[in-house]
Amino acid sequence: MTDDTTTETKAIDRYGVMGYPISHSRSPVIHRLFALQTGQDIQYELLQVSPEKLETAVRQFQRTGGKGLNITVPHKSEVARLVDQMSDRAATAGAVNTLAFNGGEIYGDNTDGIGLLRDLAVNLGISLKGANVLVLGAGGATRGIVGPLLEMQPASLIIANRSLSKAETLVEHFSRSGPVSACRFNDVPVSDSYDLIINATSAGLKGEAPPYPAAAISKSTFCYDLSYGLKPTPFSAWAREAGAAQSVMGWGMLVEQAAESFKLWRGVRPETRPVLKQMSISA
Ligand code: ATR
Repeated sequence: MTDDTTTETKAIDRYGVMGYPISHSRSPVIHRLFALQTGQDIQYELLQVSPEKLETAVRQFQRTGGKGLNITVPHKSEVARLVDQMSDRAATAGAVNTLAFNGGEIYGDNTDGIGLLRDLAVNLGISLKGANVLVLGAGGATRGIVGPLLEMQPASLIIANRSLSKAETLVEHFSRSGPVSACRFNDVPVSDSYDLIINATSAGLKGEAPPYPAAAISKSTFCYDLSYGLKPTPFSAWAREAGAAQSVMGWGMLVEQAAESFKLWRGVRPETRPVLKQMSISA
């Protein structure tokens, strides 16, 4: 005998990722794997939203019962204007990649920096304390990672950029947080060898190859590209060619930042290693 005469339907919590373009995004796959692993019942949508429709789309998602959003290129700075409250790390980065909708309020966080740090420290075993770090690029991606990198107490952090003024603006913003300086690609000091070089330019995404400073690479330099692809990115191929100790793409950061968003929304942090493996990507 069964007693299921009444069927109660519980709405599934809705999440999604907004960007422009968005079709390439792996976030739906990652969050579905997280949900499966942690036994959470969620729906995760891919939402292509052009810049002029961002506010309307966010508010509509919220109004129709959505619980949270990931925000990606090119909306991370703009969406910060829409939040009612934001985490300190999002305020420092001036950018938001995660929204949580709580009773009419919009909370904004930025999990990119912690995602990178976890990939470097936990997955790849790199210690940043006392390290010489070179970051290539001075756009939104760099802004999101410099604060967390400086918290790890590197000996130096140089931001090299095509246009010096943008790198200098970032240095001004972060100078109280640690030993950070700016230069052009051509002027990267090469007397010290770098322990870590991070590519945070968007050049590779556009199929462009800037004059990366090959002399900055020694055989003990670890190279990390925030971009990722199924084939080596231009930067990661270049770093390998230039003799880096290791050259890694940002798949691990992608999965780690997603895990931090998932934790904010669902209160549980998924295991990231099996997800990286299931995506057939080496960490
Ligand atoms: P954002 O909107 O986050 O600033 P972006 O404009 O795509 O993103 O640029 C990100 C970074 O990639 C910037 O540091 C940019 O250099 P500039 O500040 O000089 O514009 C860098 N970048 C993009 N394309 C590049 C290229 N072909 N060569 C060198 N740097 C490049």
